[in-house]
Amino acid sequence: MSGPFSTATHELRAGMVGMGMIFDETYRPFFEQAHATGLYDPTYGLCRVNLAAVASRTGSRAEAYKKAAGDRIAPFVSYREPDSIGQLLASGVDFVCVATPDDRHFAAAKAALEAGKHVLIEKPSVLSLDELDELDRIARAKNVLAKVVYHKLLDPDHKKLRTLVADGELQHVNTGYCTLLEPKSISGSQFAEWIVGRNPGTYVAVHYIKLIDFTFGGRLKSISCSGQRGIVGPADGPTWDSTQLRMIYEYGDGREAAFDIHTSWVTPDNFPGYVDQEVQFRFDNGVWNAHSRKRGIECTVEGRTPFTRKVNINNHYNGVFLEPWNDRSQRGYGIEVLERFVREVATVEFGGPADKRSARLAAARQLAYNDIAADRQTVAAVQAMEAILAKHVAGTPNCVVEIDHKLGGLVLFAPGSATPEVLYTGRVNS
Ligand SMILES: NC(=O)c1ccc[n+]([C@@H]2O[C@H](COP(=O)([O-])OP(=O)(O)OC[C@H]3O[C@@H](n4cnc5c(N)ncnc54)[C@H](O)[C@@H]3O)[C@@H](O)[C@H]2O)c1
Repeated sequence: MSGPFSTATHELRAGMVGMGMIFDETYRPFFEQAHATGLYDPTYGLCRVNLAAVASRTGSRAEAYKKAAGDRIAPFVSYREPDSIGQLLASGVDFVCVATPDDRHFAAAKAALEAGKHVLIEKPSVLSLDELDELDRIARAKNVLAKVVYHKLLDPDHKKLRTLVADGELQHVNTGYCTLLEPKSISGSQFAEWIVGRNPGTYVAVHYIKLIDFTFGGRLKSISCSGQRGIVGPADGPTWDSTQLRMIYEYGDGREAAFDIHTSWVTPDNFPGYVDQEVQFRFDNGVWNAHSRKRGIECTVEGRTPFTRKVNINNHYNGVFLEPWNDRSQRGYGIEVLERFVREVATVEFGGPADKRSARLAAARQLAYNDIAADRQTVAAVQAMEAILAKHVAGTPNCVVEIDHKLGGLVLFAPGSATPEVLYTGRVNS
């Protein structure tokens, strides 16, 4: 370091596992911007960030991207199955982003952590607390970061909500409802390869589970869930069209709040609000209402909306813009959240003397918005929801999971059964 503004230069080489929709939406623009300008911070100077290697099932989208991107991205190596991740890890990368289908996050993240790489995982991090414990344990043993992407926490509207709660202006949340509706094209074509046995709750309710958990704190007490089948798959099969999740939290003063999260991925494709979202949080002294179709934009273009262009546009998440100074840009909180993670890695590795690395690592781990260790209650809710839906498929609907019951951390109670089932033996909260 030369004085308070470092002029050092460094490089971080990224590995990308999964080259699907979310890569194209957020990782691609992030890596292209980072390729063009690097990241600067007074503590570490200039950090170049290069996408060095990618892993995917077939490699076809990686090759298409390489051709289309030209010099917007540095040359990268594309590995495909079998053992695409093993090859990627052997190629020498510094951190790994995991954006595979959610039931394949664990294996990829575990392999990357065991190889001593920092890891960023798409939401939901993993599908069970046992998996979460294992990733956290390996990350600590290898002295690397294991982090999760919950970009909704960076939405300016949600930052404002949290600010009002943190400052005591909105007091004691009582109830909340959230709904997030994905178009049918998501379940019907986009995710057709991995949709069997999956549900939209794990895929998108998790955004709101995390928002509620992170914004309001409290202890998760119980989970119940119901849903519908028959459109994506057979009405008696394992694949869900829509789900309704209920979470009960308890706060420090012993008072409780109930939150309902309704999700679907079979909304008609011509619905004007792409990824339609609505929330209400009711407090002792206030109400917070948000609605994606009332965010302020309604745009109609003959022959284009609502199919190739949506009527209600979320320009905060991720938008392509002509800037006032005539540059073309792609920006938003969906991209910002990835940059934050890479800045955290750069700070750990280069943000001061080598003998202070462990202090910088510990500080980065304290960030509850993305650290895997702070994802316990969210993963508990996801694991409980998946277990309840599996019971429903097997003929026992309306189960309830209690958290940190005397029998275990996650305990499932089925109607008509006197024998509870322990899903997780450890404590969710210490
Ligand atoms: N943050 C968000 O809002 C958001 C939005 C969409 C998706 N996601 C998350 O991103 C993840 C991926 O979603 P997507 O929409 O990009 O899915 P997708 O189906 O479009 O792409 C999945 C990618 O993973 C690759 N893949 C699958 N199995 C693999 C394996 N075993 N090894 C290596 N690569 C493998 C596929 O080849 C493909 O490139 C999911 O966890 C999803 O929840 C997040």
